[in-house]
Amino acid sequence: VTTTLDTWSVEDSRRRATKRWSRFPADVLDLTVAEMDLPTAVPVLAAVRDAVEREAFGYPLTEEYTDFQPVVAEWLGGQGLDIDEHAIFMLSDVMKGMSLALEHLVEPHTPVAVVTPTYSAFFDALFVARRRALETPMQQHADGSYQLDLSAIRDAFAAGARSLLLCNPSNPTGAVYPRVDLEALAELAGQFTARIITDEVHAPLRFTSKPHVPYAAVDPDRAITLTSASKSWNIPGLRCAVIAFSNPADIPVWQALPGGAKGGISPLGIVATIAAFQKGEPWLAAVRQSLGRRRDLAVAGLNNLGHGRLITAPEATYLGWVDLRRFELADAANHLRLAAGLAVTPGEEHGAVGRGFVRINLATPETQLGDMVDRFGRALQAVPPADSLAG
Ligand SMILES: Cc1ncc(COP(=O)(O)O)c(C=O)c1O
Repeated sequence: VTTTLDTWSVEDSRRRATKRWSRFPADVLDLTVAEMDLPTAVPVLAAVRDAVEREAFGYPLTEEYTDFQPVVAEWLGGQGLDIDEHAIFMLSDVMKGMSLALEHLVEPHTPVAVVTPTYSAFFDALFVARRRALETPMQQHADGSYQLDLSAIRDAFAAGARSLLLCNPSNPTGAVYPRVDLEALAELAGQFTARIITDEVHAPLRFTSKPHVPYAAVDPDRAITLTSASKSWNIPGLRCAVIAFSNPADIPVWQALPGGAKGGISPLGIVATIAAFQKGEPWLAAVRQSLGRRRDLAVAGLNNLGHGRLITAPEATYLGWVDLRRFELADAANHLRLAAGLAVTPGEEHGAVGRGFVRINLATPETQLGDMVDRFGRALQAVPPADSLAG
């Protein structure tokens, strides 16, 4: 496995003709899209090939006619979340689950607390559900690490929020939340009778001995859990995700929603998800090792450019959160694109507190990461520091 992971090239990824490498001219290094430049796990590919051979292109089966529920329940159990298999449902994608949860399981007409910086599509889910965001920025420590800011969250609940969107672990900061912080959040949520919608899609991609603590494991009544195989096994185009209810009262509400509302689930996605959760761990273990090496290389390269610490090694996710606030740049992402042909995600897409940061994808071959460091170096060379114009 390790050999094929390390020999997979950008040209191999380009042949996929998906969003990852198809939107910019060839000389642009695109680090925006969160897809991995890696081959597909053998058992996942085998399951999809088998489904293609059988021409499984009809309407998808619902949960009870497949192994989906027991397989997902067992996989979640391995992550520390014991959940009744009958409380697990399929849907097309994680973000669909977030907007449906906001529309149907959260007190109507209330604003929604959002822990920021966060995955930008959380704001799209709020738009779809017609909810107002109350951003609750995390605290950033001197070493660059992030922690939930419980007083900001309390303020949002006091201002009327009755739900909170949590990205656990965090895209884009890579933070893995410790149990004590999630317990403190649970206590606050209890005081304000708020629901916590937790997106745990990045949980398997951790590079730390710190355990993943599923939010529902500390607060089953208030949690609504979303996850999928799409990030860890690199199959977002196959259209299948998971919503898991640890509060049994949510189940009839979900079941009453028409199938069409839950999105276009694909039969290929169902078999791929089952294969990933059942047989995909050895591949994932090799991926974690390979991504860990790439992360260390990129972090060392960026932090040795001579500008101080630009990035803190993420504990989870293959994303990098680069702090460019020390430079006099009105639009850091645009500058990188124009000065060095580097496409990155603007930090402010992840919440107001992201201004001055950019997000990069580290799941690309080491040669690309070397090129990325060079491009950052070129782009930042002549930029004055942010305080140079002060006074
Ligand atoms: C935190 C998080 N949630 C959800 C998704 C997307 O999941 P889906 O395509 O299933 O909506 C991503 C993709 O990058 C993500 O980072």
